[in-house]
Amino acid sequence: MPRPLVLILDFGSQYTQLIARRVRELGVYSEIIPGTAKLAAIRAKKPDAIILSGSPASGYRAAAPQPDAGIYAMGKPMLGICYGFQVTQQLMGGEVHKAKHAEYGVATFVQDGKSPLFAGVPKRFRAWMSHGDEVKALAPGWVKVAHTSNCAFAAARHRTLPFHLIQFHPEVVHSPYGKQVLSNFLFKIAKLEGGWSMQHFVRDAVREIRAQVGDGHVLLGLSGGVDSTVAASLLHRAIGDRLVCVLVDHGLMRLNEAEEVRRELGEKRGLNLRVVNARERFLKKLAGVSDPEKKRKIIGHEFIAVFEREAKKLGKIEFLAQGTLYPDVIESASAGHGAQVIKSHHNVGGLPARMKLALVEPLKWLFKDEVRELGRALGLPSHLVDRHPFPGPGLAVRVLGVIEEHDLDTLRQADAIFLEELRRAKWYGRTWQAFAVLLPVRTVGVKGDERSYEKVLALRAVDSVDGMTADWTRLPHALLARAASRIANEVRGVNRVVFDVTSKPPSTIEWE
Ligand code: XMP
Repeated sequence: MPRPLVLILDFGSQYTQLIARRVRELGVYSEIIPGTAKLAAIRAKKPDAIILSGSPASGYRAAAPQPDAGIYAMGKPMLGICYGFQVTQQLMGGEVHKAKHAEYGVATFVQDGKSPLFAGVPKRFRAWMSHGDEVKALAPGWVKVAHTSNCAFAAARHRTLPFHLIQFHPEVVHSPYGKQVLSNFLFKIAKLEGGWSMQHFVRDAVREIRAQVGDGHVLLGLSGGVDSTVAASLLHRAIGDRLVCVLVDHGLMRLNEAEEVRRELGEKRGLNLRVVNARERFLKKLAGVSDPEKKRKIIGHEFIAVFEREAKKLGKIEFLAQGTLYPDVIESASAGHGAQVIKSHHNVGGLPARMKLALVEPLKWLFKDEVRELGRALGLPSHLVDRHPFPGPGLAVRVLGVIEEHDLDTLRQADAIFLEELRRAKWYGRTWQAFAVLLPVRTVGVKGDERSYEKVLALRAVDSVDGMTADWTRLPHALLARAASRIANEVRGVNRVVFDVTSKPPSTIEWE
């Protein structure tokens, strides 16, 4: 039995990916395609139900993206959200106008009629809206289901077809009954079977990778981070040794990181993995450089050079695999993001075109925590799957100013102690990212009976969802005290430890 598929037509709402995720959380597989996809492309996917997303566009403007009107004749269960509501009404003969009162935020919905979509939802309920247009008159064949004080048609259903429209966003956490509404749509209206899990994802992804790659060869840049590690394991399951992983050890990784990846993926799991020791080369290029952006550029450039050189040695390669995630797809698609949000695998961004490689991106529908779940489904251990994010330029942006090799060693040791103490106190999993930063500042201390004049080390731990904003983690004092005492006593070259208590903004997570 093929698994049921919910196809989400994306009209550009910032929440589209959240809809996909909620549907998967409810145990039904979902995929996103552009809202303007042609009917043939939609039919080819064989969806069991369709969801139309929101959009920043106005349906009555000429440039607004419109679905192929043929989707309505397919007769599949359909849920239109926000813009999906308006554009459906417009295409079916209703009237849409600019709203007198745009609504942004939580509104109270009052149900006027009965709808299976609202089974188990109170007659009056609160839900989150974000719209400047509204439906003024419903198309023939439609019935009103709910209103708000500013919006006469806040939910509607078709009299005979399984079509449902809502003006609010059920996918956001500010809509407390959102999940119930989505669940009603999937199971009561579309009558889909649930039970989809990451194991199914593995099975499908393996089949798709095999179909795409055929008997070709795939190259993957392994960083040791969660995304590339999971992507590598998945590809290995699909095509075995025809996946070649290259780990460029630039000497800027955490303590034992390259070794751990080699042991876990290369030795234990038998991945075809090459670790390239390029430490000297990177250090040489970074010598005397203190500007953070220059450091990043040098590292990115060298990374590509080393990677390309290795790839050339390998002979026939037709594909480049990347652990691109859904948020990366969105990020790359929207211009204007600074270098600080560019992920490490974008380091090989220029390569596919130059080397005429086709891209394989098996994680591109997933969110970070889904990737972690996938990693667990593939049997990867927690210390790989639950790793904190780590910047592509690595410790180079955590040794502030000019980088000396001994500073990298100092930082590695201090960082390892901090992480060890976090794990011991069971705080590693409760903070989003934690690390140490070595400052180019010396202070006076006393070690034994002697005066010391050594560097300051800063500890940073942040709570965040996506790294875009963050607050410092309120770590217990006892934990900080233990980490600071151990670092100042055990790590040579450090005699003072401070804890960073700024949020982002106005600071950033990394110090450089
Ligand atoms: P910032 O410092 O901008 O960091 O608040 C946000 C998140 O991005 C990571 N980061 C990077 N990741 N290349 C990367 O791959 C980079 O140049 C880079 N700079 C910052 C940072 O660790 C945090 O998770």
